[in-house]
Amino acid sequence: MTDYQPDETSPSSPQVIVVGRANIDITVRTPQRPQPGRTTFASAPATTTAGGKSLNQARAAAGAGARTTLVANAGTDEWGTFLQRALTDAGVDVSYFQLIPSAPTGVAIVEVTPDAENHIVLALSPATELTADQVRDALRRLHAPTVLTQLDLPPDAVHAVLQHHRAETLIGNLVPHPTLGSAVLAALDLFVCNEHEAAAILGRHHAEPTTAAQELHKLGPRAAVVTAGARGAAYSTAERTKLVPAPHVHATDTTGAGDHFLGTLTARLTQNTPLGQAIVDAVTVATAVIGGD
Ligand SMILES: Nc1ncnc2c1ncn2[C@@H]1O[C@H](COP(=O)(O)OP(=O)(O)O)[C@@H](O)[C@H]1O
Ligand SMILES: [Mg+2]
Repeated sequence: MTDYQPDETSPSSPQVIVVGRANIDITVRTPQRPQPGRTTFASAPATTTAGGKSLNQARAAAGAGARTTLVANAGTDEWGTFLQRALTDAGVDVSYFQLIPSAPTGVAIVEVTPDAENHIVLALSPATELTADQVRDALRRLHAPTVLTQLDLPPDAVHAVLQHHRAETLIGNLVPHPTLGSAVLAALDLFVCNEHEAAAILGRHHAEPTTAAQELHKLGPRAAVVTAGARGAAYSTAERTKLVPAPHVHATDTTGAGDHFLGTLTARLTQNTPLGQAIVDAVTVATAVIGGD
């Protein structure tokens, strides 16, 4: 049997493929971070929501008007079904969102402090990590002009994305797995991370966003973007390096700001918006989302 060949001009084929992870977020608001050996009481009941960077990014891309498919796994528990429903409700295609039999769904514990910052512990479920075979299978069958992948997936899965994607624009996010190193950045059209991730890649305690974008660009991607919270986002290409400031908002919870930024940016790029304008749009949307009340 020959492989299924999708009609690449079909109005139902995706414009964006996101390759990565999905999990449940259990969020608690706490007046301060817990001290060793002391119990801290949350200031509100815990909330349970759909999360994970790729899931959030896929929802944001769909929300920005791009037909989006998420390639990721969850478990066959009730949380896996919950994530699947959240994606469908957001208009994300779940044909390649697999529920792995007998596997538990990953869980992130998110503590949000009054300064709107978050401290996140992710309990990954190893059985729901994407395999290279799954990635290859999905990217052979699916075609989209833009592919967005997390670079901290198991290295074989990242290699499979680099080898099998057929996108005009390949976007990578996060600190690459240590065995991949920063060399993987050279295979990308666009690399996006936040200022803390930039510092980790560049081997520093702190990275000034504009300088960091410039240095990350020198590692080989066609463009690099470093998001910098309330300061906005910096980008660097062969033509220019620039900081796009964020509007001032009163933030109560900045969780997922970077994902809204990247989902919107990815959608704009697949809609042929030039990079500089796409970053302005992404900053505007990310800031509006966290300044919700
Ligand atoms: N406190 C804030 N005030 C205004 N905008 C913010 C704030 N925090 C985040 N943003 C917006 O969200 C984008 C991504 O946020 P950032 O904090 O850098 O990512 P992450 O979610 O990875 O921590 C920023 O570029 C900015 O547009
Ligand atoms: Mg932040």
